[in-house]
Formats: sequence, structure tokens, C-alpha cells
Amino acid sequence: MKQTFAAEAGPAIDSRTVLYGVIGDPIRHSKSPAMLGRAFRETGVNAVYLAFHVTADRLAAFAEGARAMGMGGFNVTIPHKTAIMAHLDMIDPTAEAAGAVNTVVRREDKLIGFNTDGPGYVRSLKEEAGVELAGRRIVVLGAGGAARGILHALAQEEPAHIAIVNRTAARAEALAQSLPADVPKAALGPDDLREACADADIVINTTSAGMSPNTDELPLGIDASWMKPGAVASDIVYNPMRTRFLEEAERAGCRTHGGLGMFIYQGAYAFEYWTGQAAPVAAMRETVIRALGQ
Ligand code: ATR
Repeated sequence: MKQTFAAEAGPAIDSRTVLYGVIGDPIRHSKSPAMLGRAFRETGVNAVYLAFHVTADRLAAFAEGARAMGMGGFNVTIPHKTAIMAHLDMIDPTAEAAGAVNTVVRREDKLIGFNTDGPGYVRSLKEEAGVELAGRRIVVLGAGGAARGILHALAQEEPAHIAIVNRTAARAEALAQSLPADVPKAALGPDDLREACADADIVINTTSAGMSPNTDELPLGIDASWMKPGAVASDIVYNPMRTRFLEEAERAGCRTHGGLGMFIYQGAYAFEYWTGQAAPVAAMRETVIRALGQ
């Protein structure tokens, strides 16, 4: 017990401690400080990670302050993931394609924007659900900001086909057109969902349907019995950790994958960009689960 405490304690704050953090509005619900703080302590990196409530009118001032103070970097959450881009010096191509930045790295006086949400989701799907994506038929529910990042990351994995299904078909169409030309794809409305599910290997919910307090909601009214037994049902919602969609999919004989891993791996990639070290994923997961229970 004593040893665990010592490992968690990490180096004391001194004049070399590097500052990291997360900005958002609101921000006090964020589990990132608990998760990244644990990652720094676990690896003995001399850094601290704090939550900053930054409003939209102060983004420019924050970016300038981050440069001036020599912050190591920061995460960006709702509602600033797109607006922050105007205040950075360079944007990584993955973030450019996703149209959003959630991780900023400072190098010298330059702030560089990355997007680890989509890659974090894909790493979670592969590592936690053991899913092979190459040659698979994938159905994505939703066409918002979260879907965009995930779709651009999925497009790198050589899927056989991606169907984007959205309440508003025009948004699905626009998103499909933004994907690389060599990815076989379709943009569909809710009426086509049943047919799309019938030959899907993986169905992913990127909408907020089913998120607390609306835990009875099913994304686009999906019926899990439309899916093939053995197919993977994946949900980016992690509050609750098991959504109604996942529970019904499991009863229908599908494999399930919850949204907590996306949050953990987006943080793991951020840690790896900042430190060049492998992230202590198991410790990060333990801390997030504990924080969610509070
Ligand atoms: P985010 O950045 O979280 O993806 P967003 O950009 O507002 O948020 O996108 C929300 C997505 O969830 C959209 O695809 C939205 O559908 P519309 O484009 O038709 O608005 C979808 N969505 C949200 N709530 C939904 C619900 N209850 N049922 C079905 N789709 C829903």
C-alpha cells in the first residue's frame, strides 16, 4: 500500500515542473486532470495538469499566455475544439481533416494542434475489442463533430465500406464527401438503417443518444436484432458505461465496445505527444473509473 502511494506521489513540484492543462467552458466536470495527473505521477514526469475555465472571448489571450508561460501543452474540449485552431501556429493533417484540435503541443514558441479523438477511438476499438478493421463493413450513426474525427481515423484503416447514417441526411452526405476518394462509402438516412445493419461488421454510435439522463434513448431508433450475431456494437457514450444500445446488442448476440476507451486513449496519445513516452494506460483507466464513481 505504502509503495503504491509512493509511485502515485511522483516528483514534488519544483522550479522545473512543467504546466499542462485542459481548457473548456464548462470544465469542472472534466476527468482529464485526474487521468493525466495520474499518468505524470505514474511515469515520474515532472509535470502538473490543471483544468482552466476559459471562455470563447479569451482563447487568444490563453494561447498567448501558454506561449509566454512555456506551458508544455494543453487539451481543448467543448466548445473550443474548432475555434482554437485560429490561435495556433501549425495544425497536424489529422486535425485539419477532422476540423478540430483537442491536443496542443508547444515546441519552442510555437503551438502545434493535433487531434487524438479519432485515433484514440480507433486504438481503443482495436486494443479493447480486438477488432480488425481492414476489409470490414462499418456503419457510423451520426454526422457531427465526433463522427468527423472518428470517420477520418477509420478511413486510414482500409475498411471495405463505410455507411454514414444520420437524422439529417445532408450532413451525412457532406461528411461522406470529405473522406478520401478511395474509401467505398454511402450517406444514408434513418430509413436505410435496417438494411445497412444487416451486413455490417461494426456499428458505431457517435451521437449523444443514450447519454445520461436520456438513458432510454436508442440512436436513430436502432433495433439491435437488425445486426448480425457476432458483429461489434460500439458506442462513444461512456456515461453510462453500458448504454441501452450496447445492452440490447449484447442480448442480440453482438460483441460490445463502450466509450470509456476513447476518452482514455485520446489522453494516452496526448501524453505520448507531450512526453515521447508510452502512456500508463492501465493506471489512467483505473483513475478515470474511480473518478466517474465519485
Ligand atoms: P458532436 O460534436 O458531439 O458530434 P454535433 O456536432 O452537434 O455534436 O453532432 C451531433 C450528432 O448527433 C448529429 O449527427 C446529430 O444529428 P443531426 O445532424 O440530424 O442533428 C446527432 N444526434 C444528436 N442527438 C440525436 C438523437 N437524439 N437521435 C439521433 N441523432 C442525434
